[in-house]
Amino acid sequence: MDQVSAASGYGSQLCQAGLAGLGAGRVAVGAITSRLVEKANAKSPRCVSPGARPSEPREWLEDQATPVGFLATVSSCQCFPVRRVTTRWLAGWPGRTPAGCLAHIDCCYMRVVVTGGAGFIGSHLVDAFLARDDEVTVVDDLSTGHAGRLDDRAVLCKLSVTDAPSLTHVIDSVRPELICHLAAQIDVLSSVANPAADAEANVIGTVNVLEAARGVGARILFCSSGGALYGRDAPIPSLEDVLPLPESPYGIAKHCAEQYIGLYNRLHQAAHSVLRPANVYGPRQDPTGEAGVVPIFCSKVLAGDRPTIFGDGSATRDFVYVADVVAAFLAAADQRRPGTWNIGTGTEVSVLSLARVIGEVTGRVVDPVFAPARAGELLRSALAVERAHRDLGWRPVTGLADGVRAICRWIEAGTPDRAGF
Ligand SMILES: NC(=O)c1ccc[n+]([C@@H]2O[C@H](COP(=O)([O-])OP(=O)(O)OC[C@H]3O[C@@H](n4cnc5c(N)ncnc54)[C@H](O)[C@@H]3O)[C@@H](O)[C@H]2O)c1
Repeated sequence: MDQVSAASGYGSQLCQAGLAGLGAGRVAVGAITSRLVEKANAKSPRCVSPGARPSEPREWLEDQATPVGFLATVSSCQCFPVRRVTTRWLAGWPGRTPAGCLAHIDCCYMRVVVTGGAGFIGSHLVDAFLARDDEVTVVDDLSTGHAGRLDDRAVLCKLSVTDAPSLTHVIDSVRPELICHLAAQIDVLSSVANPAADAEANVIGTVNVLEAARGVGARILFCSSGGALYGRDAPIPSLEDVLPLPESPYGIAKHCAEQYIGLYNRLHQAAHSVLRPANVYGPRQDPTGEAGVVPIFCSKVLAGDRPTIFGDGSATRDFVYVADVVAAFLAAADQRRPGTWNIGTGTEVSVLSLARVIGEVTGRVVDPVFAPARAGELLRSALAVERAHRDLGWRPVTGLADGVRAICRWIEAGTPDRAGF
């Protein structure tokens, strides 16, 4: 295992403490919070609003030699799973008024590991967890990810999820409450060319994550695929209950990994969940690769080149903006019950329509080149998303033109690694 970046400040303390064994201070916080998790389990599954009064501050005072302010703050946090309170708070408490402390209720945080966190979707997710003061460790082998996408507060551990001993060591050291598992071989064509390597990363890697999570009782949000799972005969928009009939080794591997997730819920009483994003697009998505038609088309059009459409352009996809996918992960992170959710828009957009939208947004003429359709590609794809709305209160909010505009701005700015949504 190669620890690439020990970020400055608190993150580097965690990485050192985490990987070399927790220091005394962290153990103390861990001991407190394990009691708090038990308490929080009996409480409301939703966060109380910031500013709410602590309901029972004295109850948790009994055997803790920590400042009253700290405990009062924690006891007022009724999140599930409970988020932790940082040592920064402990240090920062003296001199604060109780009212001041209460204003920071939503600063209590979770320890989260994001596998694939240096990737396109994963790095946005890391930023979102950091923005709500969660503590984030990234596990990524940087095969397609970039360390430069990561905020300094994230701790990056460069390793493959196929390396079970190193992965277990990191998870045992960090002891996350939540693992968002996004690390994957995502190239459908290379899964066809080398299915064993695809299965190694996407099936064995997931089993390794499940086993490491089991050791510390962490919940997993598994990033599956809504685009690659449902077969060509699935009704459109496709419901989660449709029998998956993947058309590629990549889709088979995601399906198999989902089966393991379900098995661990039954066998080990875990509460892991599955998110099935449709075709995700947004800033930080590689505009030079084989996948990611939206940034590829945008960059071609902005450069005055002609984008290539495989087939006649009537094939449809469900394009969901990355900010909406991140919002779905955050909603699922705070969801107690396990589930499987499609994350898309429910809307079919043909490749020709996408080209037209890009033309309208950029004000350029889009004159595609047509090439033969590629084997194994679906003709139609769109996901039914009512279940995510019902269970998670989530809906996509970004229209295609707005998302395309954000990508074009990002490309025109030189595709910076740290671009936001
Ligand atoms: N982009 C989409 O349209 C889309 C749609 C549905 C699902 N997904 C899923 O979302 C997740 C993220 O995809 P993305 O589009 O951000 O791709 P990405 O390639 O940008 O991200 C994948 C990340 O995983 C890392 N990785 C790959 N293999 C690894 C391994 N063995 N160990 C550790 N790290 C490894 C890569 O370095 C990269 O940082 C994947 O699980 C993918 O299957 C993506």
